[in-house]
Amino acid sequence: MKPLNLRGFLIYKSLISAQDQAEILDDIRAGLPQAPMFSPVTAWGKPMSVQMSSAGRYGWYSDRSGYRYEPKHPNGNDWPTIPQSVLRIWESVSGTDRQPDCCLINHYREKARMGLHQDNDEQDFTYPVVSISLGDDALFRIGGTDRKDKTESVWLASGDVVVMGGDARLAYHGIDRIRFGTSTLLKNAGRINLTLRVVD
Ligand code: SIN
Ligand code: FE2
Repeated sequence: MKPLNLRGFLIYKSLISAQDQAEILDDIRAGLPQAPMFSPVTAWGKPMSVQMSSAGRYGWYSDRSGYRYEPKHPNGNDWPTIPQSVLRIWESVSGTDRQPDCCLINHYREKARMGLHQDNDEQDFTYPVVSISLGDDALFRIGGTDRKDKTESVWLASGDVVVMGGDARLAYHGIDRIRFGTSTLLKNAGRINLTLRVVD
């Protein structure tokens, strides 16, 4: 499948079938008893509007000490392993033989958003970031590598996959809002985003 290329962000519309989306969601949910969702705060002490957990060797974590990867959930458990159903997506679009170390799970309820940011807590930016959208539509804002660069937006739907590699690897991006209730994948609506990254 040939992706849309928006300023280096490769957008694969409807890459994941409805059946595979449901399988991925089930597999991700299966890890939540071990590593429940939590509400992170930013380095400035502001609560984030998304709920978060992770799978993999590392989980992404944020509190007043800053943004980082942690080998354990705050409850002391290991993070669950990244499901095969998710790794298959990485293998199909990442262009690398290396496996990701972290699958960040972001849950967006009705008013949740994600401010414009760079993914830069990893050690090697030659590996891409692969982002999987599940559930409600989300307005994805794309910028450049300078926060002041002009931005443009695109709607992401359930089953869409975005690859941020090359010049887009360190580009600013964020979620302005979700269109609550546009998908029936999650029983209570909302959106799950999975972000796969090589960490170290
Ligand atoms: C993120 O960049 O951390 C999340 C992007 C998304 O939810 O699509
Ligand atoms: Fe990000």
